[in-house]
Amino acid sequence: MPEKLGAPRGTQDFVPPESGRWSALEARIRELAARFGYGEIRTPAFEATELFVRGVGETTDIVEKEMYAFTDRGGRGMTLRPEWTAPVVRAALEHHLFAQGPLRLYYIGPIFRYERPQKGRYRQSHQFGVECFGFAGPEADLEVISLAWELVRSHGIADATLNVNSIGDDVCRPRYREALLEHFRPHLAAMGEDARRRAERNPLRLLDSKDAADKPFVESAPSFESFLCEPCREHFETLKSYLTLAQIPYVLNPRIVRGLDYYGRTVFEISSGLLGSQSAVCGGGRYDGLVRWLGGPDVPAVGFALGLERFLMMLQARGPAAEPARRGIQAIALGAQARTLLVPIVAELRRTLDLPTYMDYEERKLLAHLKIADRNRARYALVAGSQELARGELVLRDLELRSDRTVPLEPMRVLIELLVEAGS
Ligand code: HAM
Repeated sequence: MPEKLGAPRGTQDFVPPESGRWSALEARIRELAARFGYGEIRTPAFEATELFVRGVGETTDIVEKEMYAFTDRGGRGMTLRPEWTAPVVRAALEHHLFAQGPLRLYYIGPIFRYERPQKGRYRQSHQFGVECFGFAGPEADLEVISLAWELVRSHGIADATLNVNSIGDDVCRPRYREALLEHFRPHLAAMGEDARRRAERNPLRLLDSKDAADKPFVESAPSFESFLCEPCREHFETLKSYLTLAQIPYVLNPRIVRGLDYYGRTVFEISSGLLGSQSAVCGGGRYDGLVRWLGGPDVPAVGFALGLERFLMMLQARGPAAEPARRGIQAIALGAQARTLLVPIVAELRRTLDLPTYMDYEERKLLAHLKIADRNRARYALVAGSQELARGELVLRDLELRSDRTVPLEPMRVLIELLVEAGS
C-alpha cells in the first residue's frame, strides 16, 4: 500500500457541509462590501519577494521568519502572499488606478505564513480585507472600522472588543521611540531575548511582547498619546468622536502597535475572548506612506484584514449552527423502468428550477433513498414507483410537512409550477 499523503502541516481542507459555511460567509461579506461601495480586487497568490521586503518591512516577523519564499526556475525570488496590502498597492499602481481619484477595494483569499501552527493560527489562512485610498481625514478611518464592526455586529457576536490606538507619524514617532528606549534600556538585561533584538530595531514592537518577563516593563511604559504631534492628535480626537457618534464602542489600547511597518496614525484590532491566545480576528490601520514607498505618488490610505478562520470560530463559539433549511428535490426511482423515465425529468427540473435536484442512480429500497434525501436536506421527494407509473403519476412528498400528493407525469408543467410555487 502506498503511504497516505496528508494536507501540509498548518493547512486545512474544507469539505461539505463546512465548506458551505465558508461560501455563505463569503456571500454575506461580498454584499456588505458592495453596500459600502467597495469593488473586488484579485491578485496573484505569489509576488516578487522584494515587494514584501519593501512593503511590509525588513525587520518585521513576517519578512524575517514567516515568508514562503522560493527561487523560481528562472532564478527570480518569489514569495507566496503573506498579506494583501502590499500586492493591492502594487496592482493599483500597475493599473494606474490612483490617477482616477479615491479608490475602494476589497479582497477575499488565502495568505501564507510559516508560523507555528496552533488553534486559530495556520500556515495557509484566509483574509477578507478592504483598502480605502485617497482620503487623509479620519472619515475614511471611521468608514473602514464601521465596515469591520458591521460584519461582527450583524452576526450577533457580542464578545468582541474594538481596540484603537494612534502610533503617530514621522514627526512624532521618533520622539516617542526615543522615550521608549529610555524607558526600556535600564531593564533590557532582565527582559527576553526577543525584546533586546526588538529594542535595537523597532522599540515600538516591545509594546506587544507576549513574553512574561517583559510584562512589568511594558505595563509601566509611557503611552504614545502624550507624544502625539498636533495634527496626529487632532486626527485621533476626531476619529474618537466619530466612533462615539456612530455608536461603535471602542477601547483605547496603547499596546496596539501592529506588526507591519507601513502603519502610521490610526491602528486598530478587533479581538475576542472566544478565540483563546490568538485573540485578534481583525487588524488594520492607516498607512499613508506605503504607496510612495512602492514607487507611487502620495496617496493616503487606510484598511484592515479579518481572518476568516478566526471569524468562523467565533460564529461557532456562539453555539451549534441551526440545521440548514430543507431545500430542493430528491428524485427517487424504484426500479429500472422508473429510472429510465425519471432521468430526463431530473434533467428538465435542473434546467428550469432554481432549486437543487438530487438523484441517486443505484437500486435501493424507498427507505434508503429517503435517508439520502435527509442527508441532502431535500425538501421534497419525487417518487416514481411501479404502481404510480402504471397510473401515469408521480408522488411528491413534502419531507418537512410529511404529506404526499400525486402529480401527473404529463404535462410536466404541472409539476414544475408546483415546485416553483413551493420553492419561492
Ligand atoms: P494582520 O494583523 O497580519 O494584518 O492580519 C489580519 C488578521 O488576519 C489577523 O487579525 C488574523 O485574524 C488573521 N491572520 C493573520 N495571520 C494568520 C494566521 N497565521 N492564521 C490565522 N489567521 C491569521 C494584515 O495582514 C494587514 N495586511 C491588514 C491591513 C490591511 N492593514 C491595512 N490594510
